Amino acid sequence: MRELQLIDIDKRFPPNVQACAGVSLTIRAGEVLALLGENGAGKTTLMRIASGVTRPDRGLILRDGEPLTLGSPRDAIGHGIGMVHQHFMLIPRLSVAENVVLGFEGEGRVLDRVRLSREVEHFSEKVGLRVDARRRVDELAVGEQQRVEIVRALYRGAEVLILDEPTAVLTPTETDGLFRVVREMAAAGKAVVFISHKLHEVSQIADRVVILRNGEVVAERPPTTPLGELAALMVGRPVEVPSRSEAVARGQVALELSGASSSGAPGLSEVSMVVGEGEIVGIAGVDGNGQVALEEVLAGVRPLSSGTLALGGSRLERVSPEAIRRLGLVRIPSERHRDGVVAPASVWENLLLFDLHRLGFARHGALRVRAARRRAEQLVAQYGIRCGSVDQSVGELSGGNQQKVVIARELAAEPSVVVAAQPTRGLDVGATAGVHESLLDHRARGGAVVLISADLDEICQLSDRVYVLYEGRVTGTAGPDERERIGRLMAGVAA
Ligand SMILES: Nc1ncnc2c1ncn2[C@@H]1O[C@H](COP(=O)(O)OP(=O)(O)OP(=O)(O)O)[C@@H](O)[C@H]1O
Ligand SMILES: [Mg+2]
Repeated sequence: MRELQLIDIDKRFPPNVQACAGVSLTIRAGEVLALLGENGAGKTTLMRIASGVTRPDRGLILRDGEPLTLGSPRDAIGHGIGMVHQHFMLIPRLSVAENVVLGFEGEGRVLDRVRLSREVEHFSEKVGLRVDARRRVDELAVGEQQRVEIVRALYRGAEVLILDEPTAVLTPTETDGLFRVVREMAAAGKAVVFISHKLHEVSQIADRVVILRNGEVVAERPPTTPLGELAALMVGRPVEVPSRSEAVARGQVALELSGASSSGAPGLSEVSMVVGEGEIVGIAGVDGNGQVALEEVLAGVRPLSSGTLALGGSRLERVSPEAIRRLGLVRIPSERHRDGVVAPASVWENLLLFDLHRLGFARHGALRVRAARRRAEQLVAQYGIRCGSVDQSVGELSGGNQQKVVIARELAAEPSVVVAAQPTRGLDVGATAGVHESLLDHRARGGAVVLISADLDEICQLSDRVYVLYEGRVTGTAGPDERERIGRLMAGVAA
């Protein structure tokens, strides 16, 4: 294949979202094409059309000049087009190997599990993305699931590989590994489409950058374009990065964890930390080193096996999610699809999920829907959530807009402590700046923030103090300017 052309593609979602408006795009063999755009710009929709998941309302898809009809992802893979989705599409209860070959075994072939696992492991090593083929997918961390998705597409012989925000869940080392694979693929004459919000990655990996805004192609640039210019093209105006002002710490302890241990793989071992009012405490660490356990312990959804948790100076005797929320701690969960939103429910229901009673919208068993919707509309405007209406289901929003719903809901509860776990994963530059601003505002009002993030840039940019988590332990503390030391601690090297 030399090229895949998308010509004049339109896609509208009822009632009034024009996700793609006359988009034309050429994807060339031997090239890494980066697609940039704000949350909701239409990147995923366009690539879902190219990979047979979504039908366009209008437009043509040509492979080397021949029109293709893509009725399903199976059709697309038959034409060598494979997509790794932003929201995983693996089957949790099956093994890695089963997921990789599913729908691809060939008629009547008996699934020999042992052989299958060996074959998939061998293949994954060959492409430089190691996976443990025998494990069940629901036992894997998100980064590992991402690898499985990529292995799956490559196993099926993709000549055009579409990666929708593949690094959002990868560690820096895993990202380097992925980039090597991507470059090898391009060198071998395959085409790669790379969607990312991380501009420095785009400039590192892409041969060509195309920018979408509101469902249209607005610009094409070389990868050497200054990042500020790319950001401005995406958003349609200059983007300001909020900066951290001097600490306003009041010295009162908002949250304290002492000798906290919990089960899990990895869980926490004897973690102690103090977070004061008016400060942002960063928890740095490579994904999979106890961040999830910490997040869940703080939110009261994972019990402590020993140690204590105190909020506002008083030790909690019985830890439960409800008690913790009542005491003013809210969480922006890392797994927003599982823990953050109820996908089939509407935007307004999601925004008011916990607060119908507090705000007096639910009384004596009656729901004041109109008042609740009005409140939701205010939040939609305040946080710049892009949706058709507050009645649209959250599952239909773009990834970044789903996260905005979670953040708007949690910050609207006027918490004292915000536990923000990977809060800008998958968000565009503008939305990331918005989240950072929200967290800095919370701090400026004297609130406390626990910022759990695998993104070292984010940690150093926002935190007043940093704890480093490694294999479930705090291996060191640092100031936000001690970037190299934090990096060494993250890698488990004594610093
Ligand atoms: N199945 C759907 N039903 C209704 N609206 C949808 C559906 N899928 C996408 N949309 C809407 O289409 C627009 C484009 O969404 P899309 O997911 O393509 O954006 P994106 O550029 O990938 O954003 P992000 O960076 O957040 O992933 C958004 O307004 C989104 O809410
Ligand atoms: Mg998307």
